[in-house]
Amino acid sequence: MRKLLHSIYSWSDERLGMTGLLTFAGKKTVPQHRHSFWYYWGGISLMFFLAQAVTGVLLMVYYRPGPDAYESVRQITYDTNFGWLVRSVHSWAANLMVAAIFVHMFSVLFMKAYRKPREFGWWSGMGLLMLVMGFGFSGYLLPMDELSYFATKVGLGIPASLPLFGPKLAALVRGGLEVNEFTVQRFFALHVVVLPALFIPVLMFHLFLVQKHGNALPPSEERKPAAERRSVPFFPNFFMKDMAMWLIAINVLALLAAVFPWDLGAQADSLKPAPVGIHPEWYFMSQFQVLKIIGRLAPGFAGELLGMLIFTAGLIGWFLIPLYDGNSESGRRARRTTWFGLIVLAGFIVTTIWGYLAV
Ligand code: HEM
Repeated sequence: MRKLLHSIYSWSDERLGMTGLLTFAGKKTVPQHRHSFWYYWGGISLMFFLAQAVTGVLLMVYYRPGPDAYESVRQITYDTNFGWLVRSVHSWAANLMVAAIFVHMFSVLFMKAYRKPREFGWWSGMGLLMLVMGFGFSGYLLPMDELSYFATKVGLGIPASLPLFGPKLAALVRGGLEVNEFTVQRFFALHVVVLPALFIPVLMFHLFLVQKHGNALPPSEERKPAAERRSVPFFPNFFMKDMAMWLIAINVLALLAAVFPWDLGAQADSLKPAPVGIHPEWYFMSQFQVLKIIGRLAPGFAGELLGMLIFTAGLIGWFLIPLYDGNSESGRRARRTTWFGLIVLAGFIVTTIWGYLAV
């Protein structure tokens, strides 16, 4: 048996060159220091994404976009064996994934892992975050219950109020003047075809960069003499710990999905007034609240335009971080970038809580 396995391996190796890859993987090491815990969060985000992909395909077996969308989600939740669980895992994993990405992004920021040569890691990561937000926004509407319907209506009202292309763009995304079954059809195409087709190559590029450059050392470790720095082989040491973290993350996901099954509200009715307490997902709450505050200070079109300008400037600022603080020699820029990150993080938390208190 051993001989047979060996000859199968040699035969494949001659054609695929696996030994070279294994030797390469065997040489990879991961730095060990008191901030190493933060190295797990990219992997945890990846694990939640895989859970999303598997449960998403299962949901697609029964989900029917279009006028029947709500009824199909009702059947998945109440009539299909384990349908409620698959739906609950999909929705919980989406939220946990966004949370894990935030932890990953801010830890990368505070460990200064965006510095040369990892700039493209930061930019591709920003691309992934925006695509994930797109997954969240498009997925939220799909059940067509009251909350998702009215929240999407409010969300699409923002671009609709912008000058020039705003109304045209909103009508294109909605598939008409109103949010209805045509919008569901478009959002479904976005959610299961367009966004995955964009997300997967960007993710591959991101992971390729991690392999190419290895994990960055935080500045506190970089200052130490090389002889004092410690590292462990990626395989099997770090890989096993990575898997242990995945196991913990899967347990958290399973527990939340089973104990707090994802709710399905009443069917959306466009003729009814919007129920009280309409709000977007938690990761859009901060932007929603900031727009509300600006709207109060500068009512009407001026406020909406100002809001858009602030978000665009913030996004450009976030994008430019690696160029501004790409050089570990400049202490002042490093401190300013850390402060910028802390202010954004604090602002995000405060406005999110404020948003929930205000609905
Ligand atoms: C779906 C979303 C994402 C996935 C699956 C993902 C995955 C990963 C993985 C597996 C790693 C290597 C392990 C680690 O350092 O944690 C990593 C590293 C990295 N990620 Fe992400 N990531 C995502 C989003 C982001 C975002 C939003 C940013 C920042 C804007 C980002 C920036 C980086 C950088 C700069 C590194 C290199 C860190 C280092 O060298 O220590 N990633 N990512």
